Amino acid sequence: MSIGILGAGKIGRAFAHALFSAGIRAKIANSRDPLSLTSALGELQPLITPVDRDEAASADIVLVAVPWSKLPTAFAGLPAWKNRIVIDANNPVETPLIHSVHPLFSSEVVAQLAPDARIVKAFNYLQPHQMVAHTQLDGHKRVQFYAGDDKHAKADVAALIDELGFLGVDLGSLREGSRLIQYPGGVLAGLDLIKADHIRRPKLHNVLR
Ligand SMILES: NC(=O)c1ccc[n+]([C@@H]2O[C@H](COP(=O)([O-])OP(=O)(O)OC[C@H]3O[C@@H](n4cnc5c(N)ncnc54)[C@H](OP(=O)(O)O)[C@@H]3O)[C@@H](O)[C@H]2O)c1
Repeated sequence: MSIGILGAGKIGRAFAHALFSAGIRAKIANSRDPLSLTSALGELQPLITPVDRDEAASADIVLVAVPWSKLPTAFAGLPAWKNRIVIDANNPVETPLIHSVHPLFSSEVVAQLAPDARIVKAFNYLQPHQMVAHTQLDGHKRVQFYAGDDKHAKADVAALIDELGFLGVDLGSLREGSRLIQYPGGVLAGLDLIKADHIRRPKLHNVLR
């Protein structure tokens, strides 16, 4: 499936980096001319290609990561979604505030802005460096929670999460999952869980000596 990224800031580029590490092609856009991204993307090109908003948003799966107040303009005037998948990586906060600035969950707002898309919540609660560093875990896997109402869309995003090297954990419906991982307030938001592939246990005779 083709991948697009709307928003080329800390999270958009961290996701692009994870794709790059897994050898997955993607198109990425900010609010300006694609040329404005050339130096920021550096070695990620040409696997990760800067394009305009319309082109990035035409992919089968589009991760959206823009500042909260920019969501309406990021979605404005895009080609029809026609059931394509939007990964909502956003949170209803505005730096430097740390309280929610909207009564709805982010994914509920995204669903209003893209009513004919299938929304999956993911990649909204890890910090950028954690998304980039997941490949350096010595065989262990970093957990990536996700949630959504459409089981086929969720399966496609789960497959992508797996390809990127994360351990995907399904949190159920969009509303239930968002409640758990949305920042601020979600009890799982900011939790960086690693599933150990092997645990070194002390030898019993050393402990008892
Ligand atoms: N930073 C974190 O630790 C973190 C962690 C998890 C989730 N998040 C969430 O991720 C989202 C993005 O955060 P961020 O830290 O990545 O923000 P950021 O570094 O400020 O980057 C924002 C990006 O959005 C782009 N953008 C703005 N308006 C746009 C539009 N109309 N169309 C297309 N692109 C547009 C900006 O492009 P221009 O440069 O052209 O304006 C920029 O590339 C937020 O909702 C945040 O809550 C952040």
